[in-house]
Amino acid sequence: MTKPNTDAGMPIAITLDPGTYDRCACGGSQNLPFCDGSHSSDGPRPIRFKITRRQKVYLCSCGKTGNRPFCDGGCGFSPDSES
Ligand code: FES
Repeated sequence: MTKPNTDAGMPIAITLDPGTYDRCACGGSQNLPFCDGSHSSDGPRPIRFKITRRQKVYLCSCGKTGNRPFCDGGCGFSPDSES
C-alpha cells in the first residue's frame, strides 16, 4: 500500500553533506525523509537530488511545491521566518 506524502504540511529542515539523495515519495520508507527502497514498482518513485556543498535544505512534505523535492513556499513557509 502506498500513500501520498502530504500529511505534514511544512518542510523538513535538514543539513546535508555533499552527495546524492533519494527523497521518499511514497511515504512507506522506514528512513524518512529518504527512500529505503520499500516503494512498489507501480507507486510513486523516489525523487533523486544532488547536494554539492554542506547546506541546510527544506524538503517539501506538503506536496504543493513546484520545485520537488524542495519547499518553494507554497505551504506558506518562509526560511527567513526561522530563527
Ligand atoms: S512544504 Fe511543500 S511547499 Fe513548503
